[in-house]
Amino acid sequence: MKAVIPAAGLGTRFLPATKATPKELLPVLDKPVIQYVVEEALEPKGVDEVVIVNSHEKPQIESYFTVDGGFEQTLRERGKDVEADKVHAAGALPVSFVYQNEPKGLGHAVLCAAEKIGREPFFVLLGDYFVPDHKMCVRMAEVSAAHKNSSVIAVAPVPAEQVSRYGIIGGKRIGSLTGCHPADDEKPGAVWKVDRLVEKPSEKEAPSHLFIVGRYLLSPKVMELLKTQGPGAGGEIQLTDALERLLKEEEMYAVVVDPNEGCDTGTPAAWAATNARVALTRPSVREAFIEGLGNVRF
Ligand code: G1P
Repeated sequence: MKAVIPAAGLGTRFLPATKATPKELLPVLDKPVIQYVVEEALEPKGVDEVVIVNSHEKPQIESYFTVDGGFEQTLRERGKDVEADKVHAAGALPVSFVYQNEPKGLGHAVLCAAEKIGREPFFVLLGDYFVPDHKMCVRMAEVSAAHKNSSVIAVAPVPAEQVSRYGIIGGKRIGSLTGCHPADDEKPGAVWKVDRLVEKPSEKEAPSHLFIVGRYLLSPKVMELLKTQGPGAGGEIQLTDALERLLKEEEMYAVVVDPNEGCDTGTPAAWAATNARVALTRPSVREAFIEGLGNVRF
């Protein structure tokens, strides 16, 4: 089974930094953002390869995930085995690449991986967000297994005035994750049967307040539908629109998650906050980080 990470965007929010460095390679502490996402993608049982949908403008991502024997050797000769191991581990991750030549939207990006995916279910992980404990996709796999291997998406509540920024689902709660007893329908652990999906609806059109957070476990049928998917919101080929069409043929479920269990890296402010969060939770860094803040007052 494979996981797809779309990574062909221009990274305009991070200019000028992204003039020479793809936003996916910006570090959170000492590791590129996309490596956190790749490691998360490899966690659920059965996932053995990550397909990155890249653009030809960003060859640095492919170099990063390639073993660089010369560099490793130099590090080892200098007695830096720990560092050499880290360099090797990044290059040895089971990552492959496909290319999206035009920025035609998330649905189009996912379709670029169709040949690699074949007839197997697959995960999609949006790369502006990662979940440190890797468990979100594992829970989605659990829900899928309990419902005839149907597609499952992770969703979370959002204030009404923000629904137009996201894909929004409609449906009914039908249960909960094993061992989870959420107090209400929009609390983490609630499982919904999806009957509608709308990309960037107005407040009036939104079928609920549950937005798609960027983790999907999808039936291969989605690839078929994406082939004939026309442009939707923003003139882009939307994954959400293909999923809405999928509902006519297959069941789909959603699991409510706490979006704060993951770290956002989609804007400079969110990326900076994520760096602080990771620094504060890494014991080897925490104290020096707090000391480095000096007299900063919040
Ligand atoms: C994409 C998806 C949307 C989802 C969002 C999560 O939108 O199309 O359904 O809610 O990611 O971040 P984008 O952020 O690319 O506009």
